[in-house]
Amino acid sequence: MSDSIQFEAKLKELRERRSKIELGGGQKRIERQHERGKMTARERIAAFFDPGTFVETDAFVTHRATEFGMADVEAPGEGVVTGYGLVNGRAVCVAAQDFTVIGGSLGEMHAEKICKVMDLAAKVGVPFVSLNDSGGARIQEGVDALKGYGNIFYRNVKYSGVIPQISVILGPCAGGAVYSPALTDFVFMVEGISNMFITGPQVIKAVTGEEVSTEDLGGALIHNQVSGVAQFMAPDEPTCFEMIRTLLSYLPANNLEDPPFVETGDEAGRLEPKLREVVPVDPTKGYSMYDVIYPMVDNGEFFEVSKHFATNIITGFARLGGRAVGIVASQPMVKAGCLDIDASDKAARFVRFCDAFNIPLVTLVDVPGYLPGVDQEYGGIIRHGAKLLYAYSEATVPKVTVITRKAYGGAYIAMCSRHLGADMVFAFPHAEIAVMGPEGAANVVFRKEISEAEDPAAKRAEKIKEFREVFANPYVAAGRGYIDDVIDPQELRPRVISALEITATKMVEQSRKKHGNIPL
Ligand code: HXC
Repeated sequence: MSDSIQFEAKLKELRERRSKIELGGGQKRIERQHERGKMTARERIAAFFDPGTFVETDAFVTHRATEFGMADVEAPGEGVVTGYGLVNGRAVCVAAQDFTVIGGSLGEMHAEKICKVMDLAAKVGVPFVSLNDSGGARIQEGVDALKGYGNIFYRNVKYSGVIPQISVILGPCAGGAVYSPALTDFVFMVEGISNMFITGPQVIKAVTGEEVSTEDLGGALIHNQVSGVAQFMAPDEPTCFEMIRTLLSYLPANNLEDPPFVETGDEAGRLEPKLREVVPVDPTKGYSMYDVIYPMVDNGEFFEVSKHFATNIITGFARLGGRAVGIVASQPMVKAGCLDIDASDKAARFVRFCDAFNIPLVTLVDVPGYLPGVDQEYGGIIRHGAKLLYAYSEATVPKVTVITRKAYGGAYIAMCSRHLGADMVFAFPHAEIAVMGPEGAANVVFRKEISEAEDPAAKRAEKIKEFREVFANPYVAAGRGYIDDVIDPQELRPRVISALEITATKMVEQSRKKHGNIPL
C-alpha cells in the first residue's frame, strides 16, 4: 500500500473517531435532552462562542474504570467537552458537561479534563466558564470521582482572584458538586432546567418530613431570590449565553489586566438636569436609585448582578467615560435602603470581585442605618455587616462615593466613606450625614427636656428642627474634609467621571501579610 493510501486510511480513522465523539451519547439521548428543553453540550458551546472559533481539547480522553461493568462502557469525550474559543474576540476557556454521556457524571478522567483546561485558563490568563449539567459523582468510580471534585475545588480556589470564573447551571447539580459553582465568581441559572441542592427532595422528605419539589428547592428563582447562591437568572439558554457574553465584556481577562476600555460615544460632560428632581428633599419620601444610576452611566447601560436578591442594595457593572466600573447603591425603595444581613453579603462579595479584577467602585449612598430586628441580630448582622466594612477597607481600586441623601451612623461608614479609604466623596446639597436621623437624635439627647416641657410635642418638633439644621446637611462633614465636594446633582456624571480619571493611576503600597481574616 502506498504511503498516501495509508495516510488516507489514518485520516479516515481520525474523522470517524472524531464524529463518534461529537455524537456524545448518541442520537436517542440527544433527542431526550432536547425533549427536556435542554441544548446539548456542543450546541451550548456553539451558542456561546463567536461562530467558528471554538477549538476542542482532549476529545480522545477515555476513562479507565473497570468496576460495575464500566470496562465495557464507552463514554465519548468522557462526558465533558473542553477547549477554548473567542467571546467578542477575546479568548475564554470552557468545560461543558455532556448529559448524554452517562448523565454527565464526573469520573476521574472527566475531572482531569476539566482541571487541565482550568490550568490552561490560569496559565494564559483568560476567564474560565463551566457549563454544568451532571448527575454528580460517577457512582461506579467511587473515591476516584471524589478526588476529581476535590481537584476542581482546589483549582477554583487557587485561581480565585486570578482569572474570572463563571459557572452556568444547565441541568442537575447536586450534592458536593454544588461547591465548584459556589467557589466561582458568578453563577448563572436558567428557569425550568437548572437545579442545585445539597440533598434532594427525597432525602429531605425522609429526614425531616418536609415535602418540596425540585424547582421549589433549588430552581433558578429560589437561588436568585432567596438563597443568593446564583447571581443571574435567564429565561432560556440562548439568553443565558448572551448574558454571560455581556458580563465578560466588563471584565479583564485576568487580575494583571485592566478591564477593556470601550468607546461608548456618550459625552463625559453630559449634564442631567432631571437628576435635580430625582432625590426628594423630604427625607421621608422614597425614590428609586435606578433613576440615579441610569442617567449617570454611559448610554444608560447597567448590567445588574444579583438583581433579585437583597434588593435593598443594588450591585452591577456599567461604563463611565468608557471605563468599566462596579456600582454599589442603596435602594431607598426597599427597606428604606437599610443594610441587612443579605445586603451586606451581596455588596461585600461584589466589592471583593471588583477589587480583585481592577474594576473601580462607584458607591451611591442613601442609607438610614442597619435594619433593626431580632432576626437580624440572631442571624449575625454584626458578623455579616462586618464583611462590607472589611471589603471596602481592603479594596485598593479607585473608590468614588456619592451621598445622595441619608448617610447615618455605622452604615454611613460602611458605605465606602472616606474613613474606609474612599478616594473621592461627593454629596448632593440635601444630603444628611449624621450619627442618626434628627427624630431619633432629638429623642435620645433631649428626652428629659421634651418630657418635662409644657408642650412635649412642640418641644420635640423644635429639637428635631434644631438637629436637622445643625447636623442634617453635608457641610459639617465637608467642613472636616470627609466629603470632597457638595455637587449639583445634574453634574453627577461629569464629576464621577473626572474622579475616576484622576484616580485611574492610583498606587497603593500593600502591607506584607499572608492574607487577612475576613469575618465569614
Ligand atoms: C453514574 C449516572 C449518574 C451518576 C446519572 N447517571 N447520574 N451514572 N453516576 N451519578 C446515568 C443514569 O444511570 C443514566 O444512564 C443516565 O446517566 C441518565 O440518567 P437518568 O437517570 O436517565 O436521567 P434523569 O431521569 O434525567 O435523572 C437525572 C438525575 C438522576 C436526577 C441526575 O440520574 C440521578 O438521580 N442520578 C444520580 C444522582 C446522584 O445521586 N449522584 C451522586 C450525588 S453525590 P443510562 O445508561 O440509563 O442512560 C455527589 C457527590 C459529589 O455527586 C461529592 C463532591 C465532593
